[in-house]
Amino acid sequence: MVSCSSANEIIKCVFVTVSSRHVGEILCRQCGASVTRQSEFINVTGVDSSQLAYEYDFPLAGKTTKVHVLTNPEGHKFHMFGAKTAHLNFHGTPQSHATWYPGYKWTICLCKVCNRHLGWYFEVDKSTVLHMTSEKKNFVGLVLDNVISADYVDTLTRVPNF
Ligand SMILES: *[C@@H]1O[C@H](CO)[C@@H](O)[C@H](O)[C@H]1NC(C)=O
Repeated sequence: MVSCSSANEIIKCVFVTVSSRHVGEILCRQCGASVTRQSEFINVTGVDSSQLAYEYDFPLAGKTTKVHVLTNPEGHKFHMFGAKTAHLNFHGTPQSHATWYPGYKWTICLCKVCNRHLGWYFEVDKSTVLHMTSEKKNFVGLVLDNVISADYVDTLTRVPNF
């Protein structure tokens, strides 16, 4: 670990921090495990509008991403954004009931390190795909409140002390 107490050390420290981290990395907010990165972000389409409370564009890790605000059958509200892939563990088996994205099955996804619920894996439901006109691709929906941008963590934890 490089200490960051003098001006020279701070410059070295910033360099080490930037070069040892992937720019645009997204972390588990609870434990800091790496989850995905900005280059994996996608704007998810095909949401069931009857289950969508509202949507908005959110600046995250240097990119703009679409956030869908959705409610599950238990009444919990989630702000969710999409990624092509993420490092997560599956919890349970794929379900198709109450899906927010018609034509997709969902599986709960947990942090690989601390098991916090971070989102869902949405995979094309092969039993319905014949009725679909568009090209669908599997994706991960991440809960915005449960992740944090590594770049943002750096601004919180690195306090220059001249
Ligand atoms: C999502 O859409 C917005 C415009 O609504 C665009 O600015 C942004 O680049 C898109 N993000 C991704 C990850 O494609």
